[in-house]
Amino acid sequence: MKSLENKKVMISGGGSGIGHAIVTELYKEGVKDFAVIGRSLEKLEALKTDFPNAEFTLYSGDIAKIEDIKEFVSIVNKKWGSADVLINNAGVVSAGAFEKISDDDIITQVNINVIGLILMTKHALPLLKNSKEAALVNVSSGLALISMPFYAPYAATKSAVKAFSESIRRELKDFPIQVTTLYPTATDTPMMSETKLEGMHSPEMVAQKLIAGIKNGDIDVILSDMDNVIQNRENPMEFDKKVEGMYDAIKKRTEKHRSM
Ligand SMILES: NC(=O)c1ccc[n+]([C@@H]2O[C@H](COP(=O)([O-])OP(=O)(O)OC[C@H]3O[C@@H](n4cnc5c(N)ncnc54)[C@H](OP(=O)(O)O)[C@@H]3O)[C@@H](O)[C@H]2O)c1
Repeated sequence: MKSLENKKVMISGGGSGIGHAIVTELYKEGVKDFAVIGRSLEKLEALKTDFPNAEFTLYSGDIAKIEDIKEFVSIVNKKWGSADVLINNAGVVSAGAFEKISDDDIITQVNINVIGLILMTKHALPLLKNSKEAALVNVSSGLALISMPFYAPYAATKSAVKAFSESIRRELKDFPIQVTTLYPTATDTPMMSETKLEGMHSPEMVAQKLIAGIKNGDIDVILSDMDNVIQNRENPMEFDKKVEGMYDAIKKRTEKHRSM
């Protein structure tokens, strides 16, 4: 997809963090029509003030609820009849010692990060197929490439997003729908407000890399250090030693890392 100008974009979680930064960058690229789903209407409504010259279809709903997904997609279908870009960005995290993460938080992470993303894609796919040139973007995480301790359920959900993306990309080969997967690492968004980390990426930079990747037709946009990714894949026991050195620090900073 060489240009994003005048593309019609559906995005989950566009009201804050990386999602808001993606809306900002898309707006700069000439996107004027956005359909955005998120649970807090207040966050969504703020988009209208932030981008007064864009047209927003806002839906206050939960992607963990199939009826909300269907209603959102149906509203978009009635309005546009097609969609050029679907960005599955919404996600939640509940970290810390595995046995201390509540059952509810484990279930909710899977429901939002995996099942919600998959069902949103399933129900919005006919709209993408109605577009002459479409893109599907799934937001995974660097933790899908290198799973760190104290993020076991979250890392599992983001690995599922990676596998889903790869499979659907290959399945859709005969359609003009490109599939791009974004792998952010620690990024300074509300999701990270409970965990203190030095040198986080800015959501603006992450969004800019994603847009460049979409325009370039990249299948993966990876923010992780590739030397670490390769070492983790090729010599995981050696990489375990590196992680051991960070164990206490990660344990401490993930104790309160919960953004649900
Ligand atoms: N920040 C990082 O360091 C980082 C690193 C790797 C990957 N990621 C991934 O990047 C994506 C964006 O995260 P972020 O850092 O920008 O976090 P964020 O600021 O908390 O944004 C998440 C957005 O998703 C929406 N959302 C959450 N659950 C939802 C649901 N059930 N239904 C509809 N919308 C929902 C939230 O809005 P409501 O609360 O109003 O619903 C919010 O707008 C997530 O998939 C996250 O896992 C983030």
